Amino acid sequence: MEKPAYHVPVLLHESIDGLNIDPNGVYVDVTFGGGGHSRSILKKLDKGRLFAFDQDEDAKANVPDDDRFTLIDQNFRYMENYLRLFGVRQVDGILADLGVSSHQFNEAERGFSFRFDAPLDMRMSQKSALTAAKFIADSSIDELATVLRQYGEMNGAGRVARTLKSIEPKGATLTTGEVIQAIQPMVPALKANKFQAQVFQALRIAVNDEMGALKAMLEQSERILKPGGRLVVISYHSLEDRLVKYFMRSGNFDDDLKKDFYGKPLCPFKTISRGSINPTEEENENNSRARSARMRIAEHI
Ligand SMILES: C[S@@+](CC[C@H](N)C(=O)[O-])C[C@H]1O[C@@H](n2cnc3c(N)ncnc32)[C@H](O)[C@@H]1O
Repeated sequence: MEKPAYHVPVLLHESIDGLNIDPNGVYVDVTFGGGGHSRSILKKLDKGRLFAFDQDEDAKANVPDDDRFTLIDQNFRYMENYLRLFGVRQVDGILADLGVSSHQFNEAERGFSFRFDAPLDMRMSQKSALTAAKFIADSSIDELATVLRQYGEMNGAGRVARTLKSIEPKGATLTTGEVIQAIQPMVPALKANKFQAQVFQALRIAVNDEMGALKAMLEQSERILKPGGRLVVISYHSLEDRLVKYFMRSGNFDDDLKKDFYGKPLCPFKTISRGSINPTEEENENNSRARSARMRIAEHI
């Protein structure tokens, strides 16, 4: 059987348009993955440069043969420091296409998917020591319940948390199959997929501290982007999208728009997209991964 594509880029044309690319500018794709977005950016560049981040070792296999391109195999939460190492202090645009790639979901041993029985791993970076199995072992029932409630948007999070702790003595050897089996009695009729997906999504977001990395990257974007530089973010979860929305319209995560002495707003960004930009029905039909995508665009003032 033919191997599935590493990843089909979501909102490709809309996001590249959103970057408003200067052919001689410097751009950052903080979520390289299969490189679909990066290759489209490179097509628009002349003497410009593209730096990309991905913390997954597997993404290295997709690096294009192009001397205007550099892959930095690190977490994008350190974007500013790593760009400095390459002598870059200011850029013309930043693209983030958050979450995991289809490749990560499709590789059984990565432990992201409940379609396979495999170790409960879920690390985006193979260098990280924290697997999902260890995360369950290290967390209290209350901590797990909070994660399930916030990142999985689940009802009954307390019960699921108690169940996860009850199988946790297996510690680092816990598997995806054992989690699915343990939560089976709680699964609402006809909603098994959604329920399991919520549990797995919550654990994944927590294990990889996806919200913390997003916040750090957004804060750095304010210092790194040139005036007129664009920030384009595609998110797949309402909590991420809310952070991005607040940050773009207020310059902080509390949506607290500060004003100067004369009442002039002090937001460092101007929003370019009105509301969020969502995939078309056609894209959703062709790519199920697109369904929950929400994209927002802002320009640094
Ligand atoms: C949705 S995929 C991006 C797909 C890509 N736009 C493409 O066209 O193929 C997200 C990628 O970002 C990476 N990633 C997610 N969070 C990251 C982080 N904090 N630091 C570095 N890479 C991250 C994941 O490993 C994954 O490969």
